[in-house]
Parts: sequence; C-alpha cells; structure tokens
Amino acid sequence: MAVLMGLARLLPRPNVRPANVPAPADAQVIVLANQKGGVAKTTTTLNLGVAFVEKGYRVLLVDLDPQGNLTMSQGLNPDSIEQSMFDVLVHRMPMEHVIVPCEADVAVSSIDLAGADMALSSQIGRERALEKALAPIKDRYDYILIDTPPSLGLLTVNAFVAATGVIVPVQTEYLSLRGLVQLENTLSMVRENLNPRVEIIGIVPTMYDKRLTHSREADEILRENFGELVYNTRIRKTIRFAEAPVKGASVLAYDPSGEAAAMYRDLAKEVLRGEKSRQHA
Ligand SMILES: Nc1ncnc2c1ncn2[C@@H]1O[C@H](COP(=O)(O)OP(=O)(O)O)[C@@H](O)[C@H]1O
Ligand SMILES: [Mg+2]
Repeated sequence: MAVLMGLARLLPRPNVRPANVPAPADAQVIVLANQKGGVAKTTTTLNLGVAFVEKGYRVLLVDLDPQGNLTMSQGLNPDSIEQSMFDVLVHRMPMEHVIVPCEADVAVSSIDLAGADMALSSQIGRERALEKALAPIKDRYDYILIDTPPSLGLLTVNAFVAATGVIVPVQTEYLSLRGLVQLENTLSMVRENLNPRVEIIGIVPTMYDKRLTHSREADEILRENFGELVYNTRIRKTIRFAEAPVKGASVLAYDPSGEAAAMYRDLAKEVLRGEKSRQHA
C-alpha cells in the first residue's frame, strides 16, 4: 500500500418518529472523521443527518469543530453563541443548553472550543467527557452524528470514545491512504484502551468528478484497498454544496429535487442498510 500513498432552518421539524419508521435498538452515534480538512466531513454530517430526518428519524448533529462550520451551515453565528460544546465538555454543562432546533437538532460550537483540548488535558476522564454528556439524552435520538475537526486530537478522540461507528469521507481528488492508515491506528488505540466497539463502518468518496482520470483512479484505489467498506454512492462535485450553507440550509432543503440532495438520500439508504445488518450480526 505504501507505493500507492502518493497517488494516492428552515422549518424546525417535530422530533417524533412516525409509527412506521423502525427504531434502532439504541441511539447510534456516528462520527464523521478524517484528519484532513476540506474532505466534506461537515457537508456529510449535515446532509446525511437531514436525509435521516426526512426518513423520520430523530437526529442530533454535534459540532465538535472549533471552526463552527456545521453551526454556521444552519445559519447560526458562532461568534454570538454564548454557550457551546466547550461548556459541555469542560464545565460539564448539560447538552440541552447548547442544542438548537434546526433542520435537525444541532449542538453548537464556537471558537472557544479551540481551547477545549488544553482545558481538558489536565482532567481525569478527559477522553470520556463527550460520552458522559451524551448519556442522558441518548434515548431522545435515533442517530447522533458528530462532526470533528481536521485533527486526531482530544476532541476527535472524545468522539471516537462516544461512537458506535465511524464514517470517513475521503476526497477522490487528493487521496491520502497514509491519512487513512493514521486514522485506523488512532482507532485501534481507542479500541484497546477506551471503546472496544469503535470501528470504521464506511468510507464515502466525495468531490467525485467522473470526467477526471485522477478522480476515477482515486475511487478505484479506495475500492481495491478497502473493498466493501466503500459505499457505492459517490458524492459528486457540484456547486450546490457551496451554495447551500450560505443560505443556512442543507442541500436537501436548498434544492430538494436536485442531484446533490439525491446523492445524500442514496448515501443515507446505504448507511441505514449497513446499520441494520450490523445490528443483526
Ligand atoms: N461534493 C462536493 N462538491 C463540491 N464542493 C463540495 C462538496 N462537498 C463539500 N464541498 C465544499 O468543499 C468545502 C469543504 O467541505 P467541508 O464539508 O467543509 O469539509 P471538511 O468539514 O472536511 O473540512 C466546502 O466549501 C464545501 O461546501
Ligand atoms: Mg468541517
């Protein structure tokens, strides 16, 4: 593999699940992670989450990135937020205080979260702060999706400790298999010491452009190396993904019948199928 490395708010919705939608056994906590920036972690957290909401599931999106892009992408201003995930993690404030109902519920972030690594590092149980915070509200949701910063630091480790599964968005333009190996190394340390069940449940190829040879090659390399972990749904490159957050909306709300929305609905179906087979395994 080493040789390949170089190549390689609108309307708030009521939070109730209709009777015909099956409930997962437990709230599933899915972390979107990749220590590389700009691979569509935030875009995938929001749009996959809203696709679950469309299917009738109760969804919480947690913004664990100090940059607050997920918070912003629902039209909220991180600069004017007074209580954020920082207070939850560092001061043990109940999650309810930082959850804002948007297209899905959003636990908001602000720039002070950048200090959380430092503030937590001297605390006992520093890796379990998020797991503890989620415990009392887990029964209110079917899916909790966590958006993480572009690093494998303490915030991301907190997400892995709380997780039932990890989805890795991978940009098919600048594929970094080395990055995936580092991510897997961190996960195996978390498995050994903190959360034995955490694992990669899927890899999403993003920013795919079938007209470009390197995009097709990157997609093939991913599939050769990671087989069935790679979702069949490829998230293609389209300007809609840059436009929607400016309007404070997901692509599903911004352009409901467009291809960008359809791609995330397809991905949601695949993730749900995978969850079902995992639960019955
Ligand atoms: N499929 C896509 N096609 C085109 N642009 C995209 C796509 N997905 C995301 N983007 C844009 O790329 C940038 C990075 O995406 P983002 O989700 O913020 O990545 P990350 O959270 O991994 O840093 C954003 O401006 C976003 O709007
Ligand atoms: Mg992001």
